[in-house]
Amino acid sequence: MPDRYLDLVNSPLGSAVASRVGLPRPAVLRRYQAGDPLLPGPLLLGSTSGAAPAELVDLLKSVGADVRDAQTDDDRWGALVLDATEIRTPSDLAGLRTFFAGRLRQLLPSGRVLVLGRAPDGADIATDASRQALDGVVRSIAKELQRGATANLLLVDEPAGTGTSVESALRFFLSGKSAYVDGQPVRLGSGEAPAPADWDHPLAGKTALVTGAARGIGAAIAGVLARDGASVIVADLAQAGEGLAKVANRLGGTTLHLDVASPDAPERLLAHLAAHTEGLDILIHNAGITRDKLLANMKPDQWDSVIAVNLESQLRINDALLGSRQLRDQARVVCLSSTTGLSGNRGQTNYAATKAGVIGLVRSAAAAFASHGDSTINAVAPGFIDTEMTAKMPLATREVARRLSSLQQAGLPVDVAEAVAWLSSPGAGGVNGQVLRVCGQNLVGA
Ligand SMILES: NC(=O)c1ccc[n+]([C@@H]2O[C@H](COP(=O)([O-])OP(=O)(O)OC[C@H]3O[C@@H](n4cnc5c(N)ncnc54)[C@H](O)[C@@H]3O)[C@@H](O)[C@H]2O)c1
Repeated sequence: MPDRYLDLVNSPLGSAVASRVGLPRPAVLRRYQAGDPLLPGPLLLGSTSGAAPAELVDLLKSVGADVRDAQTDDDRWGALVLDATEIRTPSDLAGLRTFFAGRLRQLLPSGRVLVLGRAPDGADIATDASRQALDGVVRSIAKELQRGATANLLLVDEPAGTGTSVESALRFFLSGKSAYVDGQPVRLGSGEAPAPADWDHPLAGKTALVTGAARGIGAAIAGVLARDGASVIVADLAQAGEGLAKVANRLGGTTLHLDVASPDAPERLLAHLAAHTEGLDILIHNAGITRDKLLANMKPDQWDSVIAVNLESQLRINDALLGSRQLRDQARVVCLSSTTGLSGNRGQTNYAATKAGVIGLVRSAAAAFASHGDSTINAVAPGFIDTEMTAKMPLATREVARRLSSLQQAGLPVDVAEAVAWLSSPGAGGVNGQVLRVCGQNLVGA
């Protein structure tokens, strides 16, 4: 369903009218295209503790940023990056104001704010309080930014500027791949994160399987995984076979007809992997359904079918894979949750149960996956994404939902796919048991 309002307010006349009457003016977001520069302009790097570490400068240069330091008097920035890893007391937080005030207005359209911090670790109360304060600052900056610019927080365990996890995160968050990720913290732990031989094809040599891939977000995920070099198996219901075949042909993948909720789904999946692959590196649990009804009116089947497809299937397939030889070491599993699982939604008790359940699943399963040859499992929680699922909503509800985010627009399936592809990559090994929202900082439950 095209966003005609976004097109309108980006025309000269529409922009003038929207500005005069104070209507939202969503920007056309910068999305990744192979060969594009990493950023729309130079990157200003600062630190709350004097000079930024030389390793961080080198790393940012190596990923393609044109790095300047705080002495530079340019006034148009593609990114503002602040190393705040040394914050220890509330008074240290003034360094954030010093760096950002006056410069946020100089950020180019679709520019990036990134703050590097540390996660609270229980060692000192004032330090933990000051570290947690970064979360509030970054979420608020994200709400203040305009013209498609975003702000996110990277909580690093290693010294700032070292480790493949930090490099892979910088490549994702500075580029157009993170266009619809806004106001989010991500912890980059010390999990094994090998650097790919080729950062443009980080999934080369990997075998991936995406459920519910005949259309929408699943089809987009399959496309981005294939672009990044993976051999992709696309799975969906037999009745979605025609769409599935088209997706497979488009990306040179193979198909599997699989109802993820059927009792024999785990067994059939393992048999398929044994017969056609050397083992699975990447599994994306994307298949999902809605059966919306107020709880007061909900029928047993509306409840049960959503639980079976969106949650039970993931639990059963994960158990089967972990107990088999088909899941390779350093595997990556990504489960589709939803912001509804974080905030709840009227008429969606069944769906919200499953999407919150998926968050519980990844948090609880992280240790088991880490023990399986340094594998990871994470969730991606999309906000409002334009797909056939959301096209079923009444027009007025859809229009309101589209504007209810800091970026004032719906995301596209490719935005979710880029986040999934990052979490599926070898370099994201430091991220485990986490939930990454791809929601343009959806204001519902934000
Ligand atoms: N669209 C959004 O705004 C949004 C927001 C948050 C989360 N999500 C989640 O993202 C995922 C994809 O959503 P979408 O909007 O692309 O949905 P969609 O309805 O367009 O596509 C879902 C796909 O899953 C398949 N599927 C359904 N039941 C299945 C089963 N039992 N076995 C195998 N395949 C099955 C369908 O045939 C379809 O191809 C879902 O898990 C959804 O809950 C979507």
